Amino acid sequence: MATNITFHPGAVTEDERNQLLNQKGATIWLTGLSASGKSTIATALEQHLLHKKLHAYRLDGDNIRFGLNKDLGFDQASRVENIRRIGEVSLLFSLSSTIAITAFISPYISDRELARSLHEKHSPAIPFIEVYVDAPLDVVESRDPKGLYKKARAGEIKDFTGISAPYEAPVKPEIHIRTDQVDVAGAVEIIVKYLEEQSLIP
Ligand code: PPS
Repeated sequence: MATNITFHPGAVTEDERNQLLNQKGATIWLTGLSASGKSTIATALEQHLLHKKLHAYRLDGDNIRFGLNKDLGFDQASRVENIRRIGEVSLLFSLSSTIAITAFISPYISDRELARSLHEKHSPAIPFIEVYVDAPLDVVESRDPKGLYKKARAGEIKDFTGISAPYEAPVKPEIHIRTDQVDVAGAVEIIVKYLEEQSLIP
């Protein structure tokens, strides 16, 4: 734990930054089982926003685990630390007037709530939009694009979410998308409509 540290404010306030850059930052937090569609939706959403000349950046579970979080595994303590770091990183992105799109299983309610409170307790509060990317276990298991469910069922991967590790579904997410009923374009449309309604994008 660091001691003797001092917070240095910038010369430009968050509101001023948003005005200068003509964009408000926010975090769009996708959560759901492996193969539920988080990464696919995040990728399409990022592309959509960038093509509208908006700053957006995607933080994806698999990708972040190659770098920033390469020291972490999938036991509970590692997942808690994984999400704690991403909560902080997404706040930094959103403070830079960027729309941060995170795609992590983030299986524990308490970790997602911690990420939310980091954003909402910030002054000024930063929008945190939890998106439940929902597909039943039998559907994601039949998709199994990386063959991980098969390995988990065979006992070759331990602590696998939905099989041998828990997933706590959101109770009141801002957005709930059933990916067994809505395609990728439809999912992006739902999120974009929400952002427009909240005046987060033009
Ligand atoms: S978490 O729970 O939020 O810390 O997980 P995350 O950082 O999103 O990483 C999930 C991706 O890691 C792969 N993988 C596993 N997932 C779940 N459980 C176990 N044990 C596991 N081992 C590897 C898997 O490819 C996940 O990617 P997605 O995109 O979710 O399918």
